[in-house]
This record gives sequence, C-alpha cells and structure tokens, in this order.
Amino acid sequence: MAKLEAVLADITTLPVDAIVNAANKSLLGGGGVDGAIHRKAGKGLLRECETLGGCETGDARITGGYDLPAKHVIHAVGPRWSGGKRNEAQLLANCYRRSLELAADARCASIAFPAISCGIYRFPVEDAVKIAVSTVIENLPLAPSIEHVVFACFSSDMLALYRAELDAHAPPSKPD
Ligand code: AR6
Repeated sequence: MAKLEAVLADITTLPVDAIVNAANKSLLGGGGVDGAIHRKAGKGLLRECETLGGCETGDARITGGYDLPAKHVIHAVGPRWSGGKRNEAQLLANCYRRSLELAADARCASIAFPAISCGIYRFPVEDAVKIAVSTVIENLPLAPSIEHVVFACFSSDMLALYRAELDAHAPPSKPD
C-alpha cells in the first residue's frame, strides 16, 4: 500500500514526480494554486498548455514541470460549486481518479494534490476532503507505480481535516 500523508506546504516547493494543479477549462493559468504554479514553472509551462486546447471539468492533462522541482504538472479541472445539484461531487472525484491514471501512465512514484475546488471554486471543504481521500484510496490499485501520495494543505485548518480523514481510513493497529 502506498504511503498517504497530509502536509502543510506550498505545493510548488515539493520535489515529487507530479504535482496536481487546480486549473480551469482553458488550462491557461489563473489565480490561487494555478497562478502560483505558472509563476514558478515559467513561460515554458504556459507554452505547452497553449498546445492542449483546454480540458473538460472532471478531466485532467499532463505537462512537464519546467522550473518547478516537480517533473510533471497534472492540470485537473475541478467543478465550481453551485449548490450540489450539478454533479459536483462526481466531477471532483473524477479529477482525482484521472490525475492518478495520468501519473501512473507517466510512471510517477510520487504525486502531490492541492485541495481541488476548495478555494475560488468554493466546494464545501469537509465534503471535498472526504472525496479526495476516499477517491485516492479507491483508485490506487489502478495506479501501481504510485508509492507516495501527498495532500498539500495551505492552512492548518485544512491540514487538520485531511489528517482526521486519513486517520479514519487507517487500518486498525494490531493488538500486541
Ligand atoms: N500550494 C498548495 N495549496 C494552495 C496553494 C499553494 N501554493 N495556493 C492555494 N492553495 P484554488 P479552485 C490552496 O482557488 O478552488 C484558479 O483561478 C487553496 O488554499 O487555487 O479549484 C484556476 O485557474 C485551496 O485550499 O483552486 C481556476 O479558475 C486550494 O489550493 C480556479 O482558481 C484550491 O484553491 C480553481 O479554483
């Protein structure tokens, strides 16, 4: 079983095989973590993104990491929250599943996720964290190259939510 952990970190600093970006359908950059990734990666990332022709919500595309410590960036397009009746939960789960598939296709051993849709797209954070952790755990068998999954949290409140959710999924410890 791969190691899963939540850390307090700016995802752009992590030396993993792939970082996931919380992108929009244009894939041409924006605010939040998307802006931070494009700023740190440099113009080469934007040039590659311009060749991709965008991406649907719930799907993802992979590029190089350029000036980032990460080798690849996986641009996942999360849903904008609009009350929960527009399939937002399934679309968010699809982002995590597609990101793992792309990472496995690229033979990545390590991947870091931000809390997709939890900022500008305003997805309710507690539900989003449950979806993130459970979808990653369910889909890891389809991504056998992955040995290490990092949930990069941008606040201590978010870190506490992820840690509680990861603990809830931890196997019971064996009695002595
Ligand atoms: N490292 C880790 N997490 C971060 C960082 C960082 N450097 N910066 C922000 N976060 P958001 P969304 C957290 O708004 O809700 C963009 O304009 C942040 O605190 O980046 O999916 C895109 O182009 C929050 O918990 O993404 C889209 O238009 C989480 O990352 C739109 O925003 C996601 O917040 C996507 O909105």
